[in-house]
Amino acid sequence: MNRILVTGGAGFIGSSVAEKLAADKNNYVVIVDDLTTGSLSKIPVSPHGNVRFIKCDVNDWRDVSGIMYSESFDYVFHYAAVVGVTRTLENPVKVLSDLSGIKHLLSFAKNSGVKRVYFSSSSEVYGESFHFPQHEETTPLNSRLPYAIVKNASEAYLKAYQQEYGLEYTIFRFFNTFGPRQSKDFVVSKFIAKALKNEPIELYGGGKQTRTFCYIDDNVDACLNAFKKNLYINDVVNIGGDDEVPIIDLAKLIIKLTKSKSEIINLPPLPEGDMTRRKPDLSRMKKLLSREPLALEAGLKKVLANTKFIL
Ligand SMILES: NC(=O)c1ccc[n+]([C@@H]2O[C@H](COP(=O)([O-])OP(=O)(O)OC[C@H]3O[C@@H](n4cnc5c(N)ncnc54)[C@H](O)[C@@H]3O)[C@@H](O)[C@H]2O)c1
Repeated sequence: MNRILVTGGAGFIGSSVAEKLAADKNNYVVIVDDLTTGSLSKIPVSPHGNVRFIKCDVNDWRDVSGIMYSESFDYVFHYAAVVGVTRTLENPVKVLSDLSGIKHLLSFAKNSGVKRVYFSSSSEVYGESFHFPQHEETTPLNSRLPYAIVKNASEAYLKAYQQEYGLEYTIFRFFNTFGPRQSKDFVVSKFIAKALKNEPIELYGGGKQTRTFCYIDDNVDACLNAFKKNLYINDVVNIGGDDEVPIIDLAKLIIKLTKSKSEIINLPPLPEGDMTRRKPDLSRMKKLLSREPLALEAGLKKVLANTKFIL
Protein backbone atom coordinates (compact mmCIF):
# COMPACT_ATOMS: atom_id res chain seq x y z
CA MET A 1 0.00 0.00 0.00
CA ASN A 2 1.35 3.44 -1.03
CA ARG A 3 0.39 6.20 1.39
CA ILE A 4 0.15 9.42 -0.64
CA LEU A 5 -0.44 13.05 0.32
CA VAL A 6 -1.95 15.37 -2.30
CA THR A 7 -1.87 19.05 -1.29
CA GLY A 8 -4.30 21.28 -3.21
CA GLY A 9 -6.31 18.12 -3.90
CA ALA A 10 -9.63 20.00 -3.90
CA GLY A 11 -8.36 22.05 -6.85
CA PHE A 12 -8.45 21.43 -10.58
CA ILE A 13 -5.21 19.51 -11.21
CA GLY A 14 -4.78 18.15 -7.66
CA SER A 15 -8.25 16.57 -7.63
CA SER A 16 -7.62 14.99 -11.04
CA VAL A 17 -4.35 13.47 -9.81
CA ALA A 18 -5.98 12.30 -6.57
CA GLU A 19 -8.84 10.67 -8.50
CA LYS A 20 -6.48 8.63 -10.71
CA LEU A 21 -4.29 7.67 -7.76
CA ALA A 22 -7.34 6.53 -5.77
CA ALA A 23 -8.57 4.40 -8.68
CA ASP A 24 -5.78 1.98 -7.67
CA LYS A 25 -6.82 0.24 -4.46
CA ASN A 26 -3.16 -0.16 -3.54
CA ASN A 27 -2.96 3.60 -2.97
CA TYR A 28 -4.29 5.38 0.13
CA VAL A 29 -4.74 9.09 -0.66
CA VAL A 30 -4.97 11.94 1.85
CA ILE A 31 -6.07 15.26 0.34
CA VAL A 32 -5.30 18.48 2.18
CA ASP A 33 -6.66 21.80 0.98
CA ASP A 34 -7.73 25.07 2.57
CA LEU A 35 -10.52 25.48 -0.03
CA THR A 36 -9.44 29.00 -1.03
CA THR A 37 -9.84 28.27 -4.76
CA GLY A 38 -10.65 24.57 -4.40
CA SER A 39 -14.02 23.03 -3.71
CA LEU A 40 -15.33 20.03 -1.78
CA SER A 41 -17.29 19.05 -4.88
CA LYS A 42 -14.02 18.29 -6.73
CA ILE A 43 -12.77 15.78 -4.15
CA PRO A 44 -12.99 12.31 -5.68
CA VAL A 45 -15.26 9.64 -4.25
CA SER A 46 -13.48 6.32 -4.51
CA PRO A 47 -15.22 2.92 -4.58
CA HIS A 48 -12.23 1.61 -2.60
CA GLY A 49 -12.82 3.96 0.35
CA ASN A 50 -9.16 5.00 0.10
CA VAL A 51 -9.52 8.82 0.08
CA ARG A 52 -9.48 11.05 3.15
CA PHE A 53 -9.92 14.83 3.06
CA ILE A 54 -8.51 17.14 5.73
CA LYS A 55 -9.10 20.88 5.58
CA CYS A 56 -5.66 22.34 6.25
CA ASP A 57 -3.47 25.32 5.40
CA VAL A 58 -0.20 23.81 4.20
CA ASN A 59 1.63 27.05 4.96
CA ASP A 60 0.82 26.67 8.67
CA TRP A 61 3.38 24.23 10.04
CA ARG A 62 1.26 23.35 13.09
CA ASP A 63 -1.59 22.31 10.83
CA VAL A 64 0.52 20.22 8.48
CA SER A 65 2.99 18.63 10.92
CA GLY A 66 0.34 16.55 12.75
CA ILE A 67 -0.89 15.13 9.46
CA MET A 68 2.58 14.32 8.16
CA TYR A 69 3.70 12.56 11.36
CA SER A 70 0.45 10.67 12.01
CA GLU A 71 -0.02 9.44 8.44
CA SER A 72 3.61 8.50 7.53
CA PHE A 73 3.37 9.15 3.80
CA ASP A 74 5.46 7.39 1.17
CA TYR A 75 4.89 10.06 -1.49
CA VAL A 76 3.77 13.69 -1.58
CA PHE A 77 2.23 15.56 -4.53
CA HIS A 78 2.56 19.21 -3.51
CA TYR A 79 0.08 21.05 -5.75
CA ALA A 80 -1.36 23.66 -3.34
CA ALA A 81 -0.57 27.27 -4.30
CA VAL A 82 -2.07 30.71 -4.72
CA VAL A 83 -2.95 30.70 -8.44
CA GLY A 84 -4.39 32.90 -11.18
CA VAL A 85 -2.66 35.86 -12.89
CA THR A 86 -4.87 38.57 -11.32
CA ARG A 87 -4.92 36.99 -7.84
CA THR A 88 -1.16 36.49 -7.74
CA LEU A 89 -0.45 40.04 -8.95
CA GLU A 90 -2.85 41.54 -6.39
CA ASN A 91 -1.70 39.43 -3.40
CA PRO A 92 2.12 39.27 -3.58
CA VAL A 93 2.56 38.79 0.19
CA LYS A 94 0.14 35.85 0.25
CA VAL A 95 1.93 34.37 -2.77
CA LEU A 96 5.31 34.62 -1.02
CA SER A 97 3.90 32.83 2.02
CA ASP A 98 3.76 29.68 -0.14
CA LEU A 99 7.52 29.48 0.48
CA SER A 100 6.74 28.51 4.09
CA GLY A 101 4.61 25.65 2.77
CA ILE A 102 7.35 24.01 0.70
CA LYS A 103 9.98 24.61 3.40
CA HIS A 104 7.98 22.95 6.19
CA LEU A 105 6.63 20.21 3.98
CA LEU A 106 10.14 19.17 2.92
CA SER A 107 11.38 19.26 6.48
CA PHE A 108 8.52 17.02 7.69
CA ALA A 109 8.95 14.81 4.61
CA LYS A 110 12.60 14.07 5.28
CA ASN A 111 11.91 13.44 8.98
CA SER A 112 8.92 11.17 8.43
CA GLY A 113 10.34 8.84 5.77
CA VAL A 114 8.71 10.22 2.60
CA LYS A 115 10.39 8.61 -0.41
CA ARG A 116 9.74 11.28 -3.05
CA VAL A 117 8.05 14.67 -3.47
CA TYR A 118 6.31 15.62 -6.73
CA PHE A 119 5.99 19.37 -7.20
CA SER A 120 3.78 21.49 -9.47
CA SER A 121 6.10 24.20 -10.71
CA SER A 122 5.15 26.47 -13.58
CA SER A 123 6.23 27.72 -16.99
CA GLU A 124 6.34 31.10 -15.22
CA VAL A 125 9.84 30.20 -13.94
CA TYR A 126 11.07 30.89 -17.50
CA GLY A 127 9.68 34.45 -17.21
CA GLU A 128 9.92 36.45 -20.44
CA SER A 129 12.04 33.98 -22.42
CA PHE A 130 14.34 34.64 -25.33
CA HIS A 131 15.05 30.95 -26.03
CA PHE A 132 12.54 28.61 -27.70
CA PRO A 133 11.34 25.95 -27.37
CA GLN A 134 11.72 26.34 -23.62
CA HIS A 135 13.92 23.47 -22.45
CA GLU A 136 14.23 22.23 -18.87
CA GLU A 137 18.06 22.56 -18.82
CA THR A 138 19.11 25.05 -21.47
CA THR A 139 16.52 27.85 -21.24
CA PRO A 140 17.60 30.39 -18.60
CA LEU A 141 15.10 31.04 -15.80
CA ASN A 142 14.00 34.66 -15.79
CA SER A 143 11.63 34.65 -12.79
CA ARG A 144 10.78 38.16 -11.59
CA LEU A 145 7.26 38.23 -10.17
CA PRO A 146 6.42 36.73 -6.74
CA TYR A 147 4.53 33.71 -8.18
CA ALA A 148 7.44 32.83 -10.47
CA ILE A 149 10.03 33.52 -7.77
CA VAL A 150 8.18 31.19 -5.36
CA LYS A 151 8.11 28.39 -7.93
CA ASN A 152 11.80 28.94 -8.75
CA ALA A 153 12.81 29.05 -5.06
CA SER A 154 10.65 25.97 -4.35
CA GLU A 155 12.57 24.10 -7.06
CA ALA A 156 15.78 25.20 -5.31
CA TYR A 157 14.44 23.87 -1.96
CA LEU A 158 13.67 20.49 -3.55
CA LYS A 159 17.17 20.28 -5.03
CA ALA A 160 18.75 21.34 -1.72
CA TYR A 161 16.85 18.71 0.30
CA GLN A 162 17.90 16.08 -2.23
CA GLN A 163 21.53 17.15 -2.00
CA GLU A 164 21.69 17.37 1.79
CA TYR A 165 19.19 14.73 2.94
CA GLY A 166 18.71 12.43 -0.05
CA LEU A 167 14.98 13.26 -0.32
CA GLU A 168 13.99 12.47 -3.91
CA TYR A 169 11.89 14.82 -6.05
CA THR A 170 10.37 15.28 -9.48
CA ILE A 171 9.54 18.79 -10.64
CA PHE A 172 6.73 19.24 -13.17
CA ARG A 173 6.75 22.63 -14.90
CA PHE A 174 3.11 23.02 -15.92
CA PHE A 175 2.27 25.17 -18.94
CA ASN A 176 -1.39 26.24 -19.38
CA THR A 177 -3.54 23.23 -18.52
CA PHE A 178 -7.28 23.14 -19.04
CA GLY A 179 -10.21 20.83 -18.42
CA PRO A 180 -13.75 20.63 -17.08
CA ARG A 181 -12.87 21.17 -13.40
CA GLN A 182 -10.87 24.35 -13.91
CA SER A 183 -11.86 27.48 -11.98
CA LYS A 184 -12.64 30.73 -13.80
CA ASP A 185 -9.26 32.26 -12.92
CA PHE A 186 -7.75 30.77 -16.06
CA VAL A 187 -8.03 31.87 -19.67
CA VAL A 188 -9.82 28.88 -21.24
CA SER A 189 -12.54 28.55 -18.60
CA LYS A 190 -12.95 32.33 -18.40
CA PHE A 191 -13.45 32.63 -22.19
CA ILE A 192 -15.85 29.65 -22.27
CA ALA A 193 -17.95 31.10 -19.45
CA LYS A 194 -18.15 34.45 -21.25
CA ALA A 195 -18.92 32.85 -24.63
CA LEU A 196 -21.72 30.69 -23.24
CA LYS A 197 -23.33 33.81 -21.74
CA ASN A 198 -22.72 35.89 -24.94
CA GLU A 199 -20.71 38.35 -22.82
CA PRO A 200 -17.73 40.31 -24.21
CA ILE A 201 -14.36 38.54 -24.19
CA GLU A 202 -11.56 40.90 -23.18
CA LEU A 203 -8.07 40.56 -24.64
CA TYR A 204 -5.03 42.33 -23.26
CA GLY A 205 -2.63 43.82 -25.81
CA GLY A 206 -4.60 42.55 -28.80
CA GLY A 207 -4.31 38.89 -27.75
CA LYS A 208 -1.07 38.45 -29.69
CA GLN A 209 0.57 36.56 -26.79
CA THR A 210 0.96 32.86 -27.54
CA ARG A 211 0.35 29.91 -25.24
CA THR A 212 0.14 26.15 -25.59
CA PHE A 213 -2.77 24.33 -23.97
CA CYS A 214 -2.52 20.94 -22.30
CA TYR A 215 -5.67 18.89 -21.73
CA ILE A 216 -5.92 17.74 -18.11
CA ASP A 217 -5.78 14.00 -18.93
CA ASP A 218 -2.43 14.48 -20.71
CA ASN A 219 -1.06 16.42 -17.74
CA VAL A 220 -2.17 13.83 -15.18
CA ASP A 221 -1.25 10.73 -17.22
CA ALA A 222 2.24 12.06 -17.96
CA CYS A 223 2.85 12.92 -14.29
CA LEU A 224 1.47 9.62 -13.01
CA ASN A 225 3.55 7.65 -15.52
CA ALA A 226 6.62 9.37 -14.06
CA PHE A 227 5.40 8.21 -10.63
CA LYS A 228 4.47 4.64 -11.61
CA LYS A 229 7.57 4.00 -13.73
CA ASN A 230 10.05 5.83 -11.45
CA LEU A 231 11.15 8.13 -14.27
CA TYR A 232 12.74 11.59 -14.03
CA ILE A 233 13.78 11.13 -10.41
CA ASN A 234 15.59 14.28 -9.20
CA ASP A 235 14.78 15.90 -12.51
CA VAL A 236 12.50 18.43 -14.18
CA VAL A 237 9.82 17.83 -16.82
CA ASN A 238 7.86 20.39 -18.84
CA ILE A 239 4.18 19.43 -18.97
CA GLY A 240 2.32 21.31 -21.70
CA GLY A 241 0.53 21.24 -25.02
CA ASP A 242 2.04 21.02 -28.50
CA ASP A 243 0.41 23.83 -30.51
CA GLU A 244 1.42 27.43 -29.95
CA VAL A 245 -1.75 29.52 -30.23
CA PRO A 246 -2.22 33.33 -30.04
CA ILE A 247 -4.80 34.18 -27.38
CA ILE A 248 -6.96 35.94 -29.98
CA ASP A 249 -7.19 32.67 -31.94
CA LEU A 250 -8.21 30.84 -28.74
CA ALA A 251 -11.00 33.40 -28.23
CA LYS A 252 -12.17 33.04 -31.86
CA LEU A 253 -12.13 29.24 -31.65
CA ILE A 254 -14.19 29.24 -28.44
CA ILE A 255 -16.69 31.69 -29.99
CA LYS A 256 -16.96 29.40 -33.05
CA LEU A 257 -17.40 26.18 -31.05
CA THR A 258 -20.03 27.72 -28.74
CA LYS A 259 -21.79 29.56 -31.63
CA SER A 260 -21.55 32.59 -29.33
CA LYS A 261 -22.46 36.20 -30.04
CA SER A 262 -19.67 37.43 -27.72
CA GLU A 263 -17.72 40.43 -29.00
CA ILE A 264 -13.94 40.57 -28.66
CA ILE A 265 -12.84 43.70 -26.80
CA ASN A 266 -9.22 44.85 -26.97
CA LEU A 267 -7.73 46.26 -23.77
CA PRO A 268 -4.23 47.75 -23.27
CA PRO A 269 -1.51 45.22 -22.36
CA LEU A 270 -1.22 44.28 -18.68
CA PRO A 271 1.65 46.24 -17.08
CA GLU A 272 3.36 42.98 -16.06
CA GLY A 273 2.84 39.25 -15.74
CA ASP A 274 1.53 38.50 -19.23
CA MET A 275 4.44 36.87 -21.08
CA THR A 276 4.74 37.34 -24.84
CA ARG A 277 5.36 33.73 -25.73
CA ARG A 278 5.26 30.22 -24.31
CA LYS A 279 6.49 27.17 -26.21
CA PRO A 280 7.74 24.17 -24.22
CA ASP A 281 10.16 21.54 -25.38
CA LEU A 282 8.00 18.46 -24.74
CA SER A 283 10.54 15.70 -25.52
CA ARG A 284 10.58 14.50 -21.91
CA MET A 285 6.80 14.67 -21.49
CA LYS A 286 6.25 12.75 -24.73
CA LYS A 287 8.40 9.89 -23.42
CA LEU A 288 6.08 9.73 -20.42
CA LEU A 289 2.81 10.06 -22.29
CA SER A 290 3.45 7.52 -25.09
CA ARG A 291 0.60 9.08 -27.12
CA GLU A 292 0.17 12.40 -28.91
CA PRO A 293 -1.16 15.17 -26.63
CA LEU A 294 -4.81 16.01 -27.34
CA ALA A 295 -5.28 18.90 -29.80
CA LEU A 296 -6.78 22.12 -28.44
CA GLU A 297 -10.08 21.90 -30.35
CA ALA A 298 -10.71 18.31 -29.23
CA GLY A 299 -9.98 19.31 -25.61
CA LEU A 300 -12.30 22.31 -25.81
CA LYS A 301 -15.11 20.05 -27.04
CA LYS A 302 -14.61 17.82 -23.99
CA VAL A 303 -14.85 20.85 -21.69
CA LEU A 304 -17.99 22.06 -23.48
CA ALA A 305 -19.57 18.67 -22.86
CA ASN A 306 -19.16 19.23 -19.11
CA THR A 307 -19.49 22.84 -17.97
CA LYS A 308 -20.69 22.12 -14.41
CA PHE A 309 -17.69 23.84 -12.77
CA ILE A 310 -17.37 26.66 -15.31
CA LEU A 311 -20.89 28.14 -15.20
N1 LIG B 1 -3.64 25.25 -14.22
C1 LIG B 1 -2.52 25.64 -14.81
O1 LIG B 1 -2.54 25.92 -16.01
C2 LIG B 1 -1.22 25.68 -14.05
C3 LIG B 1 -0.08 26.15 -14.71
C4 LIG B 1 1.12 26.21 -14.02
C5 LIG B 1 1.21 25.75 -12.71
N2 LIG B 1 0.08 25.32 -12.08
C6 LIG B 1 0.22 24.86 -10.70
O2 LIG B 1 -0.55 23.67 -10.52
C7 LIG B 1 -1.02 23.61 -9.17
C8 LIG B 1 -2.51 23.35 -9.18
O3 LIG B 1 -3.18 24.46 -9.78
P1 LIG B 1 -4.67 24.39 -10.30
O4 LIG B 1 -4.69 24.90 -11.69
O5 LIG B 1 -5.24 23.05 -10.04
O6 LIG B 1 -5.37 25.53 -9.40
P2 LIG B 1 -6.50 25.35 -8.26
O7 LIG B 1 -6.73 26.72 -7.70
O8 LIG B 1 -7.66 24.66 -8.83
O9 LIG B 1 -5.76 24.42 -7.19
C9 LIG B 1 -4.94 24.92 -6.16
C10 LIG B 1 -5.50 24.34 -4.85
O10 LIG B 1 -4.63 24.67 -3.77
C11 LIG B 1 -5.45 25.04 -2.65
N3 LIG B 1 -4.61 25.89 -1.79
C12 LIG B 1 -4.06 27.08 -2.08
N4 LIG B 1 -3.32 27.52 -1.05
C13 LIG B 1 -3.39 26.56 -0.07
C14 LIG B 1 -2.84 26.42 1.22
N5 LIG B 1 -2.02 27.37 1.76
N6 LIG B 1 -3.12 25.30 1.94
C15 LIG B 1 -3.93 24.34 1.43
N7 LIG B 1 -4.48 24.42 0.20
C16 LIG B 1 -4.22 25.51 -0.56
C17 LIG B 1 -6.64 25.75 -3.27
O11 LIG B 1 -7.77 25.79 -2.40
C18 LIG B 1 -6.88 24.89 -4.50
O12 LIG B 1 -7.76 23.81 -4.22
C19 LIG B 1 -0.62 24.92 -8.52
O13 LIG B 1 0.57 24.70 -7.77
C20 LIG B 1 -0.33 25.85 -9.67
O14 LIG B 1 0.63 26.84 -9.33
C21 LIG B 1 -1.14 25.28 -12.72
